[in-house]
Amino acid sequence: MKVLVTGGMGYIGSHTCVRLIESGIEPIIIDNLSNAKVEVLSRIEALTGQQPLFYQGDVRDEVFLDSVFANHNIQAVIHFAGLKAVGESVAKPLEYYDNNVNGSFVLARCMRKAGVKSLVFSSSATVYGDPDTVPITEASPTGATTNPYGRSKYMVEQGLSDLFFAEGDWSITLLRYFNPVGAHPSGTMGEDPQGIPNNLMPFIAQVAIGRREYLSVFGHDYPTPDGTGVRDYIHVMDLAEGHIAALKTVGEQSGLHIYNLGTGKGSSVLDMVEAFSAACGQPVRYELCPRRPGDIAECWASTAKAERELGWQATRSVAEMTADTWHWQSKNPQGYSPE
Ligand code: NAD
Ligand code: UFG
Repeated sequence: MKVLVTGGMGYIGSHTCVRLIESGIEPIIIDNLSNAKVEVLSRIEALTGQQPLFYQGDVRDEVFLDSVFANHNIQAVIHFAGLKAVGESVAKPLEYYDNNVNGSFVLARCMRKAGVKSLVFSSSATVYGDPDTVPITEASPTGATTNPYGRSKYMVEQGLSDLFFAEGDWSITLLRYFNPVGAHPSGTMGEDPQGIPNNLMPFIAQVAIGRREYLSVFGHDYPTPDGTGVRDYIHVMDLAEGHIAALKTVGEQSGLHIYNLGTGKGSSVLDMVEAFSAACGQPVRYELCPRRPGDIAECWASTAKAERELGWQATRSVAEMTADTWHWQSKNPQGYSPE
């Protein structure tokens, strides 16, 4: 089986490609390298013995996409490509809507032309906004998003749902990721953010390796056990396996399939600092700071639907998430491209 993986050179896409190859599925990657390094290919090859086919190009380029579909017998698409920095999306809304929304619809149009009607889309728990209750189920309200990034994910979900209701022979799977962290256990692949990391785990890792002085803990007066924000952190390898499970179960059944991919457990910022300190063998320095605008107090997933229907469940602990992140960070202090 050949699967087109857009954004397959990025953090989640690259780890998913490893698991695809290990499952006997052939990934064909397209990526514009706006947030990835080509070196990822040799890292995938070193782990799997197989270098995936890679085309450098943009999902908004219809002619390019048509040629990739024309040249390969692709059966399904996993669509990771997109921009993902919440703060940047506030400053550059047009770029976010163009890349994430327009890009997804150009892709869907090219899929239709090629007769490929199985699509797995990288959505986000951000579509739930600030939830009234936790755990969040797939039936919880969506749409009260707080920034252009979140709205772009919600718009794509809406557009793909409309597509399914108009053309019922599609299999459209919306996977709502909670907080992906961790790295391949080999320490050869992981998250390599450019510039100052926006997200907690890569920031902690860069403090631990000495690239940053201390972590700013955004908010310590939330109504949570220790006052800091609580999230559902999920190991990127569990997330990768969630995609394989989705492809194999619902990927061939027409329908609109929606799943949370999380662990069902919440951890606070200070829980993550403590776990990381244990993993790297030294205390991670932090300072308590004011809340970050737009943040919510707590958010974790109900995992029952994915367990029941996909037969998939996250198995890796926070200790494994922090240990694998540290392994990657300490072996690759500057990420994929040492300076
Ligand atoms: P990433 O930036 O590491 O990967 C995205 C990849 O897409 C990059 O390699 C980038 O070069 C490529 N890309 C971007 N725009 C493109 C375009 N127009 N054409 C072709 N390639 C393009 O991000 P990630 O963390 O691996 O996230 C993958 C997907 O999952 C994204 O859609 C993201 O919004 C979603 N998601 C991520 C998180 C998270 O916390 N990492 C959470 C929820 C959802
Ligand atoms: N945090 C800090 N200091 C930092 C960074 C983060 O204290 O330097 C805190 C945040 O305030 C929050 C928690 O750590 O309480 C997690 O923050 P992240 O930025 O790592 O993650 P978010 O939950 O804010 O958002 C992430 C992705 C979004 C996605 C969302 C839901 O960035 O794209 O998860 O899946 F939509």
